[in-house]
Amino acid sequence: MSSLRTHARTHVRTHVATQSIAAADIDAVCDVLRSDWLTQGPVGPRFEKAIADAVGVRHVVAACNATAALHIACLALDLGPRDRFWTVPNTFVASANCGLYCGAQVDFVDIDERTYNMSPTALEGKLDPILRQYAQKALQREMLPIITRQFGDASQQNAHNKKFTKMLQVVMKIPS
Ligand SMILES: Cc1ncc(COP(=O)(O)O)c(C=O)c1O
Repeated sequence: MSSLRTHARTHVRTHVATQSIAAADIDAVCDVLRSDWLTQGPVGPRFEKAIADAVGVRHVVAACNATAALHIACLALDLGPRDRFWTVPNTFVASANCGLYCGAQVDFVDIDERTYNMSPTALEGKLDPILRQYAQKALQREMLPIITRQFGDASQQNAHNKKFTKMLQVVMKIPS
């Protein structure tokens, strides 16, 4: 705990549970509540336009809460069962749930104890075996047609494929 307190003093922290709600914000909500339009009135599009202008983008979709917004973001990314979805264990559960809603493979990458953000080292540890796998597949995709062209005979092809796969395992430290 003492080390956490030290870090809290020396690093800028983002307080996720401390809101900034001004009197003008409360008045704006009350104006809508007093109006005839609670759901599809003019304030929604005005809000979206203000955010678009502030962020410098053409389109903005306002959502009713952060869970819905994260879910929409995952859908926009076309997230599905073939995708890995990584987040941090200290985030709100909605973050992981949005990946689950899309059927993605949800997993957690540990945080850095100094910043409380995702640890680059932990991320590297997660990425390494996956990148090796992709690299192996890509190399095989490139190399196998060459082997096939070079060695027409099926038994020879097979022997060379085995040799090639072994070579990849050694070079890329893939367990056999
Ligand atoms: C990181 C994070 N994601 C999602 C949510 C969910 O937000 P909401 O309650 O607006 O759906 C929260 C809420 O605290 C959050 O902190």
